[in-house]
Amino acid sequence: MNVGDFEMISQLVKERSGLLLTEDKAYLLASRLNPVARRHNFKGFDELAKAVRVHKDENLLADITDAMTTNESFFFRDAEPFDQFRDLILPHMLETRASQRSFRVWCAACSSGQEPYSLAMILKENEAQFAGWNIELVATDISRNILAKAVEGTYSQFEVQRGLPIDLLVKYFNQDGEHWQIDESIRSMVTFRPFNLLDDPADIGQCDVVFCRNVLIYFDLPTKSAILDRIARVMPPDGFLYLGGAETVLGVSDRFRIMHGLHGVYGLAELGGPDLAQAAG
Ligand SMILES: C[S@@+](CC[C@H](N)C(=O)[O-])C[C@H]1O[C@@H](n2cnc3c(N)ncnc32)[C@H](O)[C@@H]1O
Repeated sequence: MNVGDFEMISQLVKERSGLLLTEDKAYLLASRLNPVARRHNFKGFDELAKAVRVHKDENLLADITDAMTTNESFFFRDAEPFDQFRDLILPHMLETRASQRSFRVWCAACSSGQEPYSLAMILKENEAQFAGWNIELVATDISRNILAKAVEGTYSQFEVQRGLPIDLLVKYFNQDGEHWQIDESIRSMVTFRPFNLLDDPADIGQCDVVFCRNVLIYFDLPTKSAILDRIARVMPPDGFLYLGGAETVLGVSDRFRIMHGLHGVYGLAELGGPDLAQAAG
């Protein structure tokens, strides 16, 4: 791969997704784009790069961007955020949304579905408290391929062994040979749709809780700031934003503030939403 091709493709991926490909990632580009080249009947990367320069075929450009996403995910990732969702956020919703009996949760980079399905299982386990409520779980990702896997909800033995408690595996999954499919009762709680975090989320609608975990790490500072600003616009004053363990709002966006006592959960800054610190202990 020559430098010009690397720069052209990394520029394309950055413009379409925000994902940064520094030169030390040239090996990643080559290994991930060779299968794309084969699928599109090109002899190799050089021919693919030439086609990108000449044709600008939307399907090819989308496939290239898709191939450069990193989709690592697992059930109940890092455990604590999900414990806090169950023990602090849900009681807060129960109290503050009692008159409308509804709230919405958005997983903004849901990958293969483990994150929204973990939340759906928590909601299912607590459904008695929310009888008659309308709770929406919207899950989005830029990658069409990974969204298709999320919708299918089928996982390997390895995937269900990462983070998923055995009792929930037995209760909410159906075994099919070496694979496990999430039960329809959980699958039907999540609405999946494609969404690019570079776009305006107005269409997603207002979301009381936003999970945007382990994706900002792939963007540069201006991109992270702009994404957080747009997310802030679809949150109510007492909404909650979840980021990944290696991500923060500090030095990135002044729209959010840290919630003391909570790890990885942020509130809106300007309107001084709730502080769950006391409850967190
Ligand atoms: C490492 S996974 C994180 C999955 C999950 N949130 C978790 O924490 O386990 C990152 C996901 O972000 C998605 N992604 C990358 N760029 C995106 C963008 N511009 N808009 C929406 N999703 C994006 C990728 O396709 C990938 O599925």
